[in-house]
Amino acid sequence: MDTMTQYDFDQVIERRGTDSNKWQRYGNDVIPLWVADMDFISAEPIVRALHQRIDHGIFGYTRPTRELRITLLDRVRRLYDWEIKEEDIVFLPGLVTGLNVAYHAFSHPGDGVLVQTPVYFHFVNDPVMHGRAIDNSPLVGKGDTYEIDFDDFEKSIIRRTKIFLFCNPHNPVGRVYTREELEKVAEICLRHNVIVCSDEIHCDLVFPGYSHLPIAALNPEVANQSVTLMAPSKTFNLAGLHCGFAIIPNPRLRKIWETFSHGLIPGVNIMGHVGALAGYRDGWEWLDQALLYLKANRDFLTQFFEKKLSSIRMARMEATYLAWLDCRETGILGNASDFFLRKAKVALNDGSEFGKGGEGFVRLNFACPRKTLTEALDRMASALKKL
Ligand SMILES: Cc1ncc(COP(=O)(O)O)c(C=O)c1O
Repeated sequence: MDTMTQYDFDQVIERRGTDSNKWQRYGNDVIPLWVADMDFISAEPIVRALHQRIDHGIFGYTRPTRELRITLLDRVRRLYDWEIKEEDIVFLPGLVTGLNVAYHAFSHPGDGVLVQTPVYFHFVNDPVMHGRAIDNSPLVGKGDTYEIDFDDFEKSIIRRTKIFLFCNPHNPVGRVYTREELEKVAEICLRHNVIVCSDEIHCDLVFPGYSHLPIAALNPEVANQSVTLMAPSKTFNLAGLHCGFAIIPNPRLRKIWETFSHGLIPGVNIMGHVGALAGYRDGWEWLDQALLYLKANRDFLTQFFEKKLSSIRMARMEATYLAWLDCRETGILGNASDFFLRKAKVALNDGSEFGKGGEGFVRLNFACPRKTLTEALDRMASALKKL
């Protein structure tokens, strides 16, 4: 009988000197809570599978196995009651790549890309860099959360709008959209013939009380007009292994996608493939425990901001380990992330990176041991006291 592995997420592991982007960008005196990876060791079955592959010692060209495709389609059937076929899955080295392929494949320079700011910066910056126009329907802050203004959403779709880059669960505001919201989004996009590219990279990091539903799982009409992007990278902390996939059930769209990608987009690397398969097959025990730990960190943060640092307001976190913090009442003059970096030695993402509606906010990554988080929060609180 299998025994349960108990993971220790409290363990502080040195990441400096390991070529970590998160830990290397700032000085040794800075606690980095910015880029979205976790300071936790990944699931034991993943680490073991990677070891086995390393020990084999041959690292030739890789092609995704049927086993991985079947694992993925079983998974979406089990979790979302969504039937897809093996050939619907197109592998990718990452989801930023996926977003970029999506608007390149389905729009031309000068066409419009629909987004909802504040949103993960690649959604806005990359299309602009490649000559697309942004048609923005900002999310609307309501109490401690955000909503879609559906009238505005529809009005933002104009003649030039070809594709909607949707983020669900949403980075950085932490929303998991409800079935009703998804139905409205889908209905509007279908009516206006806008392709939906739904980035669902955070779909496994959802807190109790909420559940994720891929927009394409609503019905075959929506699936037929959409690309769903998923990856094991956030789920199992494998971002450095570069493995993701797009689900494109419509053969016509898939053909356009593959034609654009040909010769430009590399396949999945060997370690990414091994990590993905081991994670999706055997990583769930780890994920359950990681989610409990993340939930406790989220609750700790909520309490901290309510009781000890009430000038900062945290958005309700339905998913992700990225807290969205409103610093507009703190009295900080200028850029809040700059303030916390200089005065508290804590590195956060500045809200303005996420487009309209992000000014005055910061994003804090709480996927770290409680000790690290506590020290960062204490530093932030004492820096604010000295203002
Ligand atoms: C919504 C979203 N998409 C994509 C990514 C990055 O994906 P990848 O590392 O696979 O390019 C992130 C990382 O934070 C993200 O939050």
